[in-house]
Amino acid sequence: GLAKKFSSSTPKSEWLEKATSQHVNIDIDSNSDTARQMIMINLQEEDVKLLKAIQPLITQHIDEITASFYQTVLDVKVLEQIIKNNSTVERLKLTLRNHLIEMFSGNIDSEFIEKRLKIAKVHQAIGLEPKWYMGAFQNLQNALFDVVDRNINNHKESLRISKVISKLLNFEQQLVLE
Ligand code: HEM
Repeated sequence: GLAKKFSSSTPKSEWLEKATSQHVNIDIDSNSDTARQMIMINLQEEDVKLLKAIQPLITQHIDEITASFYQTVLDVKVLEQIIKNNSTVERLKLTLRNHLIEMFSGNIDSEFIEKRLKIAKVHQAIGLEPKWYMGAFQNLQNALFDVVDRNINNHKESLRISKVISKLLNFEQQLVLE
């Protein structure tokens, strides 16, 4: 009947539903700048749950995301040189792969913060300038949004998820560029 027709033509909010049952761990001192930074960009527990809910989607498409990331980085001569001098593309792809999947793990605690501080130091040590770091983040966001856009049919839901990814990447940038 009509009800059935309606429900089949209206995509369900399956990811938002999945998000509600996720277990996340947000353990940040409420009297810290980090907590204030999260409040400032409105990064909430329900967002972290949604990020964890889409982690399998990110994992499924991780090769595509890291490949496009490194393609655009290697197109910049100075960055190609930094990588050649300090690492290999294969090693970095693996590093980024693990890092990205972990970003969607639902854990935001002191270990998460300390890890970002260490990453910042590593990049500083190899002479990676913030402008290139920022560019790399935008590229990463483009790739993640592409995956969401192609795989999440419900338009409202894909927009909501893209917004949450944007918050996560901004938070990450705040921590590494401090
Ligand atoms: C190291 C992530 C941008 C080059 C790392 C590490 C992580 C990481 C997690 C490992 C740090 C550690 O040892 O604890 C990211 C993210 C980026 C980014 C999330 C931006 C969204 C770049 C760019 C370059 C680059 C644009 C280009 C030169 C390197 C190099 C290392 C490194 C050479 C050292 C790797 C090694 O020790 O083998 N990065 N990175 N990164 N990154 Fe990046």
